[in-house]
Amino acid sequence: MPRVAVLGTGYLGATHAVAMAQLGMEVVGVDTDPHKVEMLSAGKVPFYEPGLPELLTEMLATGRLRFTTDVAEAVGWADVHFVCVGTPQSKTSHAADLRYVEAATAAIAKHLTHDGLIVGKSTVPVGTGAQLRALVAAQVPDGVRAELVWNPEFLREGKAVQDTLHPDRIVLGGTTGPSEALLRRVYAAPIAEGSPVVVCDLPTAELVKVSANAFLATKISFINAIASVCEAAGADVTVLADALGHDVRIGRQFLDAGLGFGGGCLPKDIRALMFRANELGAGRASALLQQVDEINMGQRERVVDLAIAACGGSVLNRRVGVLGAAFKPHTDDVRDSPALNVAAALHLRGAQVTVYDPQAGDTARSSFPTLAYATSVEEAVEGADVVLVLTEWDEFLRADPTHLAALTANAHVIDARGKLDAAAWRQAGWTFTGLGRAAVVA
Ligand code: UGA
Repeated sequence: MPRVAVLGTGYLGATHAVAMAQLGMEVVGVDTDPHKVEMLSAGKVPFYEPGLPELLTEMLATGRLRFTTDVAEAVGWADVHFVCVGTPQSKTSHAADLRYVEAATAAIAKHLTHDGLIVGKSTVPVGTGAQLRALVAAQVPDGVRAELVWNPEFLREGKAVQDTLHPDRIVLGGTTGPSEALLRRVYAAPIAEGSPVVVCDLPTAELVKVSANAFLATKISFINAIASVCEAAGADVTVLADALGHDVRIGRQFLDAGLGFGGGCLPKDIRALMFRANELGAGRASALLQQVDEINMGQRERVVDLAIAACGGSVLNRRVGVLGAAFKPHTDDVRDSPALNVAAALHLRGAQVTVYDPQAGDTARSSFPTLAYATSVEEAVEGADVVLVLTEWDEFLRADPTHLAALTANAHVIDARGKLDAAAWRQAGWTFTGLGRAAVVA
């Protein structure tokens, strides 16, 4: 089995390192942040990801998995080097910031002591791999051969372990015969299980990843655009989505209308694709994604407007109870979270906003320290003039609406994720506002 180095130990890298050890390989995870390395070495995952802490502990105990800040040692030891660092949105444009990918790739090339395969997994604009090949060629020591290929990752937060061990597909971009054979050995278990392998050139592999995210984003904005037609026409978008979903060509997933998409991937990836498509002169793709982005951001404004309307035209000095801070359930990630965006917008309009999230309280507090944070649903809704459900955690869907109604000043709920049982909440005395549902306020 090849020895594996994984550079970057965020969501992608930490999960990948643990999964590679689970697949039987010896693995070293590398990060420049000593705190992360210390935590992971002690069996602690620096973020909330179901199932990952247990598997990390199990893999550390096998002796196959370790973490270090010493990139030279790790690269000198390994045969396959995965690049799993972040590609955030640049501060001054929609382009992806490639500085971490470039630094990690250059570090691998520079420290190679024997022939190595560099495998990019980070999400990058099309054309990055070709540039990195030039960077590698310039850095690699004499007498050592380095090959760079792209193998994008499609894991979802909250299901990262499952998605990494049982991927929907394995894309191998720019491989040669020997490097394809090596990666087929790395992924032998999922391939044996039936994960399809797509072998393609470097730019296709890079584009598959961003196109997948762009399609998912488009699907969400499509249903949100239809939701506004539903509202105007007196139709119900949740029933409509179920009916559409029965068509296997469409499928039900990613047709949940509501507050729209956020997180560390979809928003920045569609913007980076817009930017790159423009650079390449593919203006139509860029225009389409611009609409997708606008519809998505409009959903946040719409929920802010609904909250203001629920408070009679102004939220100044009104109490707003916010249920949910994470960008989706089963994560503590609040990067570009629509929930926190709405909470902060209402706070800026003078509302007293109290947020509760079962997992993301700490991450939310460090991003938006000026909001108030509760430690239970009850505490968040206490005395509220309006309650907003902004992330569809099971805990909120299971909550007893009768009990909660009694705690509020005014039992008005805005269900921005379309998952509450509207009839049950109305029955319990709530004024219920849904998005894209027959009666918006009833
Ligand atoms: C997304 C992709 O789904 C992964 O395949 C990809 O690997 C990952 O980005 C990445 O590029 O790393 P993730 O960011 O974990 O994964 O989140 P998703 O599950 O895709 O959800 C994104 C957002 O869309 C969330 O805010 C969610 O609430 C929203 N959403 C999702 C809707 O508003 N409606 C839906 O029907 C589905």
